[in-house]
Amino acid sequence: MSDQEYIPKSKAAKWFNDRLPLLTLGAHLTDYPTPKNLNYWWTFGGILTFCLITQIVTGIVLAMHYVAHADLAFGSVEHIMRNVNYGWLIRYIHSNGASMFFLAVYIHIFRSLFYGSYKSPREIIWILGLMIYLLMMAAAFLGYVLPWGQMSFWGATVITNLFSAIPLVGESITTWLWGAYSVDNPTLNRFFSLHYLFPFLILGLVVLHIWALHIPGNNNPVGIDIKKPSKDTVPFHPYITIKDAFALLVFMIIFAGFVFFTPNVLGHSDNYIPANPLVTPAHIVPEWYLLPFYAILRSVPDKLGGVILMFSAIFILFVLPWLDTSKVRSAVFRPIYRQFFWILVIDVLMLGYVGAMPAEGVYLVLARVGTIYYFLHFILILPVVGLLEKTDPVPMSISEPVMTGGAEPSLARKLNEKV
Ligand code: HEM
Repeated sequence: MSDQEYIPKSKAAKWFNDRLPLLTLGAHLTDYPTPKNLNYWWTFGGILTFCLITQIVTGIVLAMHYVAHADLAFGSVEHIMRNVNYGWLIRYIHSNGASMFFLAVYIHIFRSLFYGSYKSPREIIWILGLMIYLLMMAAAFLGYVLPWGQMSFWGATVITNLFSAIPLVGESITTWLWGAYSVDNPTLNRFFSLHYLFPFLILGLVVLHIWALHIPGNNNPVGIDIKKPSKDTVPFHPYITIKDAFALLVFMIIFAGFVFFTPNVLGHSDNYIPANPLVTPAHIVPEWYLLPFYAILRSVPDKLGGVILMFSAIFILFVLPWLDTSKVRSAVFRPIYRQFFWILVIDVLMLGYVGAMPAEGVYLVLARVGTIYYFLHFILILPVVGLLEKTDPVPMSISEPVMTGGAEPSLARKLNEKV
């Protein structure tokens, strides 16, 4: 049923819907024509929505017991863990939830990179996604400071000090951010305030992200434009809802594995030591999901240069839709790009690894090589490969490869020869 055809059944529903067409919106969402070949990499959008809601709900409960004061914060977190009913569970869901959120978002981003979901006409969906990602990193960083452990304090000190690299006004900006002359109680207070705010900004951006998605509709593994609705699509409900629900269940089992069996494995033990401005930890490391950027930051000997390069690593993604010159969307039909895609994945994983290591010797060399390659991928490889690559023939409709056994390039070639 299309939006226009939707007619509420009862008089009361019609009265309401004429004034606020929420029922029309509901019908649009359930009937939304979705490509029928979406694979499990497409379930992560729904999983991310679940993660965001989980973080908001558990966060609100934690905030009822947490005290944002430099003298009391650490103790209030221990109070949550020991005295609040199921406080340990809520805290572990929230802290591991951040990691699961990033795991899901990285899969979601790399899915977009592989299938060319960022390309026209989905540039705005992509850019909104990147804004969400930036806010997610900011929210995670701010949240990590709240328990006021050693890593909280020193992580905050390192990151806020980055701003002091800005010429002339850097020192003043850093002092302004702190609200004091070092990371201190005013810093903790404003970090808490912003940490509470950001998830709601993310929520607003997610609404826009999904709205923008519903204009062109989903991309799909074959990456071709499809008519909606047509033999290439299925209604969102029940076909996609059931698949998303199954993937979410598997995701929740893994999530529960972390929460119940290894709740601290992704964290740093130093954060169970109360913040001490007089004792610097041997290695200050961020959470795993920020490590590739940390490696890029430290790969440059100059502080300002490192900061610029780290921010550029994210901002280059904003212009990605215009750097990719290929006419073909999906890497399934791009034999050369496909290889470079996997090299990029390995490069980012390697940067993550060296980000956790001391910035010296072989680790520093690897960080530099990895950083140079990261930028080369986007600035040089992507535009050049797009122009020179001989792509495999792309099928006319997604039903062809689906009906005949999968989006296989060799199969598509045969099918195209027949057409
Ligand atoms: C809170 C975080 C996010 C949520 C809740 C979210 C949600 C969704 C949902 C529900 C979809 C449709 C289903 C799917 O394709 O998986 C989607 C699609 C998409 N997302 Fe996200 N997303 C988030 C973050 C991001 C980020 C960080 C990026 C990229 C930087 C991104 C890029 C995209 C793109 C390009 C699509 C279109 C894929 C297609 O057309 O099939 N998203 N997102």
